[in-house]
Amino acid sequence: MSLSDPTPLIVSPVIPVITIENARDAVRLARALLAGGLRIVEITLRTPAALDAIRAVVAEVPDLIVGAGTLLKPHDVTRAVDAGAHFLVTPGTPAGLAPALSEAPIPAMPGCATVSESMTLAALGFPVLKFFPAEQSGGARWLKSVAEPLPHIRFCPTGGINGGNAADYLALRNVVAVGGSWVASAQAIAAGDFSGITARAAAAVALRA
Ligand code: 3PG
Repeated sequence: MSLSDPTPLIVSPVIPVITIENARDAVRLARALLAGGLRIVEITLRTPAALDAIRAVVAEVPDLIVGAGTLLKPHDVTRAVDAGAHFLVTPGTPAGLAPALSEAPIPAMPGCATVSESMTLAALGFPVLKFFPAEQSGGARWLKSVAEPLPHIRFCPTGGINGGNAADYLALRNVVAVGGSWVASAQAIAAGDFSGITARAAAAVALRA
């Protein structure tokens, strides 16, 4: 695999996208996801607690693959790698960010929302792309349409996906997994609803049994 191919790391059909306000919740959250059978998570760099949360989960929950998400600039790539993340995710991929992702020592899943962006990123060597925001950008119908002209590109759609529509995406041959915040929302984490998170994780795993 090339460094930019995250495929071996995508060990579950759903990647829970996490916004965490308090790093102290991170390990409990990670164990709740694992208890439901999910073995991968994306922790977004949207809060000051995110990097500490990544560090804690990598150190204390070694069975979980940890991605760093919402990387917006090259410095974020460095911060995520230094925190020990296993893979990198961006919501979109401006020209300055792509080389930083290519050169990173861990795989990346750069974000895109159009056919041209997908083609550009695939040509740069990224075989799996985050399609974001999926529902708002054409959803499962968009992905089905691009599977014919772009059979070499696979996607992880994210944005507006939930337990009700995830199966429509997972049925597509160019979808490796879906991402979404519905399994472990910021509210559920803040409320300490870890049993609910485990239940939703188990339901997410069952989407592709
Ligand atoms: C992301 O960055 O992937 C999204 O914020 C997740 O989108 P959702 O909250 O609509 O699931």
